[in-house]
Amino acid sequence: MKDENMKILVIGSGGREHTLAKECAKSPLVGQVMVTPGNGGINREFTSFAVGVEDNRGIVSLALDENIDLVVVGPEVPLCNGLVDDLKAVGILAYGPDAAGAQLEGSKAYTKDFLAKYSVPTAAYGNFSEVAPALQYLEGCQPPVVVKASGLAAGKGVLICENLQEARAAVEDMLSGESFGESGKEVVIEEFLEGEEVSLHLICSGESYVAMPMSQDHKKVGEGDAGLNTGGMGAYAPTSLVTPGMLARYEEEIVKPTLAGLKAEGVDFRGTLYIGLMLTENGAKVLEFNVRFGDPETQVILPLLANDLVELLLKSARGEPMPDQVAFKDESAMVVVLASHGYPGAYPKGEVITEPETPIADAVLIHAGTREKDGKVVTAGGRVLGAVGTGASLTAARDRAYELVEAVSYESKYFRSDIGHREFSRT
Ligand code: AMP
Ligand code: GLY
Repeated sequence: MKDENMKILVIGSGGREHTLAKECAKSPLVGQVMVTPGNGGINREFTSFAVGVEDNRGIVSLALDENIDLVVVGPEVPLCNGLVDDLKAVGILAYGPDAAGAQLEGSKAYTKDFLAKYSVPTAAYGNFSEVAPALQYLEGCQPPVVVKASGLAAGKGVLICENLQEARAAVEDMLSGESFGESGKEVVIEEFLEGEEVSLHLICSGESYVAMPMSQDHKKVGEGDAGLNTGGMGAYAPTSLVTPGMLARYEEEIVKPTLAGLKAEGVDFRGTLYIGLMLTENGAKVLEFNVRFGDPETQVILPLLANDLVELLLKSARGEPMPDQVAFKDESAMVVVLASHGYPGAYPKGEVITEPETPIADAVLIHAGTREKDGKVVTAGGRVLGAVGTGASLTAARDRAYELVEAVSYESKYFRSDIGHREFSRT
């Protein structure tokens, strides 16, 4: 196949997928980008379908019917459900790991054992599927202690417990299957790590990879990083927290042993490896792996890439070596998430969104929890939109992003006004 006029199908419906679709569409290799199931903004811009992300058979038939050259899988659930395996079985190229590779996100217990086996730095831990040994392990822990549901829990399965009583209750609740169902049938009890968190995204093809600029997410709902955890309220890249020298060290201590370990386990890992790192006093430690691009990190990482994204995705999907060097723009990017009041708890839906009539230079509005209703775009999720700004400095990127934030309206609009505060306090 000659790589031209390609048809790409993006799987998913969030801000990450809107960004992936937009960035793929810029590639000279691409003729058409389609998305399923999309959202209110994606469906205006790209041909979309109604097949859901958990319908492997539906996606395979759609990809065959539409003669898709490359499927780009956005979220973790279809990756863990073996979508890439099913597409490969009918000869369709897909970007993302197979089900074996996706275990790095699908099972925190598997990942902790994997990290221990290959001596990759991470928090001290124990894995448990029975209450009694878990409670016994807790007796030897110093609070605060972290209790995690091993399986997928959409970012909600991590409890930071201030005392052992809270930790015991969390363990019992998870293992009973009450709050997290199957995902909580195994738990990881972990040492609490202190430090700043950064996200390292790699596009991998086995042991070969390219590293994307380091980004920082803002997980807490409130200003100054207060309140409940969310999927992410904003992000920026690159961060000055990680110097090129530090990155080189993380590559030696974390990235290379991880990819070599996967190979030793018989996993040919292709796709995104997102490494959540905690920069502690004793060096960087792995908090978690995700096997897909971060959301909202994608919104700030991909616009900084100077190389053709689709070329990289193709190499990864085909298992070809990644290029030795990729170029990034000498710019910064920031995304401010526009959420609905109440998120991450209950929030209203169906509010009409008004977007700016004239585009704002160096700013792009990314859709997440939106849908079309009677010819209008309305809110349909907790994280509604992402206002992305780019510029020669992070300050410039921030100004563009917040200009766009101010130009969008819907009744329950909520956002943090301090995205990037850690970076600004450093520089
Ligand atoms: P995870 O999904 O495992 O990354 O956990 C979600 C969030 O919980 C992380 O982004 C951290 O902010 C926090 N977290 C997880 N594990 C720890 C830990 N061992 N120590 C401190 N914070 C943690
Ligand atoms: N922003 C965090 C994540 O995508 O997991």
